[in-house]
Amino acid sequence: MTLLRTHTCGELRRDDTGKTVTLNGWVDTRRDLGGVIFIDLRDRYGLTQVVFSPQDDPEAHKSADQLRPEYVIGVEGEVRERDPENINPNVATGDVELRVKKLVIYSKSETPPFEIKDDVKTNEDLRLKHRYLDLRRPVMQRNLMLRSAIYEHTRSYFYQNNFMEIETPFLMRSTPEGARDYLVPSRVNPGKFYALPQSPQTYKQILMVSGMDRYFQIVKCFRDEDLRADRQPEFTQIDVEMSFVDEDGIYQMTEGLMKRILKETMGVEVQTPFPRMSYQEAMKNYGSDKPDTRFGMKFVDFSETVKDSEFRVFSKTVADGGAVIGFVVPGKGSLGRGVMDRLTKRVQDEIGAGGLIYIKNNEDEIYSSVSKFVSGDNTRSMVEESGAEKGDLILILAGSGETVYQQLGDLRLMIADEYDMIDKSKYNLLWVTDFPLLEYDTEDGRYYAMHHPFTSPRKEDLDKLESDPGNVRARAYDLVMNGSEIGGGSIRIHDSEMQSHMFNALGIGKVEAQQKFGFLLDAFRYGAPPHGGIALGLDRVAMLLAGVGSLRDVIAFPKNQRAISLMDNCPSDVDPAQLEELHIRLAPSTGKK
Ligand code: AMO
Repeated sequence: MTLLRTHTCGELRRDDTGKTVTLNGWVDTRRDLGGVIFIDLRDRYGLTQVVFSPQDDPEAHKSADQLRPEYVIGVEGEVRERDPENINPNVATGDVELRVKKLVIYSKSETPPFEIKDDVKTNEDLRLKHRYLDLRRPVMQRNLMLRSAIYEHTRSYFYQNNFMEIETPFLMRSTPEGARDYLVPSRVNPGKFYALPQSPQTYKQILMVSGMDRYFQIVKCFRDEDLRADRQPEFTQIDVEMSFVDEDGIYQMTEGLMKRILKETMGVEVQTPFPRMSYQEAMKNYGSDKPDTRFGMKFVDFSETVKDSEFRVFSKTVADGGAVIGFVVPGKGSLGRGVMDRLTKRVQDEIGAGGLIYIKNNEDEIYSSVSKFVSGDNTRSMVEESGAEKGDLILILAGSGETVYQQLGDLRLMIADEYDMIDKSKYNLLWVTDFPLLEYDTEDGRYYAMHHPFTSPRKEDLDKLESDPGNVRARAYDLVMNGSEIGGGSIRIHDSEMQSHMFNALGIGKVEAQQKFGFLLDAFRYGAPPHGGIALGLDRVAMLLAGVGSLRDVIAFPKNQRAISLMDNCPSDVDPAQLEELHIRLAPSTGKK
């Protein structure tokens, strides 16, 4: 018999007192007090206290004796107000309880390998192996409900703005450019392979050629790359493409979406338009192309001030074309020698810088860690230039090119984290614009597209495409939230001649271009509108809004760091007959990854 629920376990309030209701759910905890059995009944909406007493119903009370955590039950009974001393203000249903008259046990449960609680300290592998139990934890249920709300508001936002949702294929042509492809063998075409999409980039551009005008899709993408906490081999994008737009059109549409999502899911109002910062500026001021702007500590460039310093580390670095840069840490001039030594060690071990130089701008003295080598005048000039106030600490690194900026960027994050300088209630969104079009790979001795090969160069820089490719700026942008890249996109090339130039700059010859992207070049010959788009990393957005540190906490069935799903244990061996059918013979393993 099924007792069909009339209410959820998060619903009953004082107003419901006296009603006869039915609840369904899982036994969370059980307490026995003076012959009465108290159960907290759980479903994804909350917890309700249900009470079995011999006075209310002897039979239900008797069978309740078998109840253990994670049993699934149905109960019918009467809602009662709790005695004042038993009211639990921490639970939404804490004013009431259900006095049970009827109990049905739907299924029993073995003792779970870990407790179903929010602050469970279980190792993650065990959680992933028993994901069905892990997902019963209220925090995981909240995360997935948040994720679902993001789908809902994304869809309604785009439909209201006249977008079409169009599905693109998961079995597509392999065009390895960014990450490695996941390949799928074709049974009916021996020796041939499909690739799973790294993104629907080429399809969405072709949809623009077809006149679809405004497209979006919430879509799985697959990339065989090294995994980190913010990367999964399969992840979800909110993928968008628009015709007849420039950067501002894409920014506006995306800002509207983020505003809607933040308002509807978190009750947070963000101001639009979002600030914009060029890639150059972001690197120069924060040492990162995804700066966390919830806190300050912008960089100061001391190179000019110290270029003639008697301290060789300074003068030689500058003479060799490097930089001496630093930032002010407010109020930390009082940190002791031991703390600074430990910080220096971390800078060397974790960030890879040669050493850390610091100045404490204290009331009684200006202390410099390199006072033996740097004149007092020089030090005072640096303090002045940095804008440090009395009591502040200045951290300084010297080194070459981009490396020193990245290292100082890492140090900035390390300090903010260590001294709790980040206001976690803030949602800081910004656009990083004007990315370089190409980046040089010294190992391969060639340029690669920084975004992808369909990104349009800036018109002013076009003449540099052949002569000075490294300095051509792209019409590409990233959306950054709280120091994470949550999206990226660009205005595309929409004529086949320009696209051929781009392939040229990338060292992709005519034949190869035709082979890999011929369909796109062909499409462009038949009237391609100017177009551009963006893709947002939905998992990353969900992760940031849920306030968790890993994508695995906002994906129902994620892979672990070794790209393995522990619950169903995949990837797995397959039957030799399956391989045979697919015309595949396995080579002996080389042990190489
Ligand atoms: P891009 O490669 O920048 O752009 O990807 C867009 C966004 O997707 C998220 N993302 C990931 N999230 C989780 N795991 C991963 N492995 C992963 N890789 C990327 C990031 C990123 O900003 N086709 C272009 C978009 C365009 O030009 O319209 C693209 O895929 O948040």
